[in-house]
Amino acid sequence: MKHTRIAILASGIGSNALALMNHFDGHPTIRTSLLVSNKETCGALLPASKKNIASEVLSNAEIEDNQTLLMLLKQHSIDIVVLAGFLRRIPISVVQAFPDRIINIHPSILPEFGGKGMYGARVHHAVIEAHKKSSGITIHVVNENYDEGHYIAQFFVPVRANDDASSLGHKIRTLEQRYFPTVVEGYINSLTD
Ligand code: GAR
Repeated sequence: MKHTRIAILASGIGSNALALMNHFDGHPTIRTSLLVSNKETCGALLPASKKNIASEVLSNAEIEDNQTLLMLLKQHSIDIVVLAGFLRRIPISVVQAFPDRIINIHPSILPEFGGKGMYGARVHHAVIEAHKKSSGITIHVVNENYDEGHYIAQFFVPVRANDDASSLGHKIRTLEQRYFPTVVEGYINSLTD
């Protein structure tokens, strides 16, 4: 049976990329076929190489140029792109070539605390400063207006009076690890059913 081939794009620690790679290890129908990062230091690169998953580090200029990333995805016959803490904007050429086929995870309940400049710990700081009573994660499809693609799933956590950005970040990571891989799997299955 032909596998659905996913490319994971990651920039930082890589905990979400690693959770995805682990989840799809030996999966009967879905394969992690490529890891792309814009950082040599991305924590997902070493685990990818240990798992014999192809990986590429592209410069920010290459990511933005509308050709390099698209060609790389085509070379690896990628069906689905998963943004797992990828902190650069995806070029329009890629968005158009993968309609409803790019999934992003965002560490807040969108549409709140989304948009330009809102990523990683910045989001948690903003949630704490706004005295919100809850936060969470949004897993969504990427369209031409980045954070505005349709939501696949949202999961909430309470924000307690004694939480700070660091403790909130910890709760969010726990949610991400628990739900992101299975939601990605469910979404892919819904496309191929
Ligand atoms: C994750 O919390 C992810 O939700 C967030 O960056 C972190 C990456 O962590 N993504 C965004 O903020 C996208 N706007 P990781 O490198 O350990 O997966």
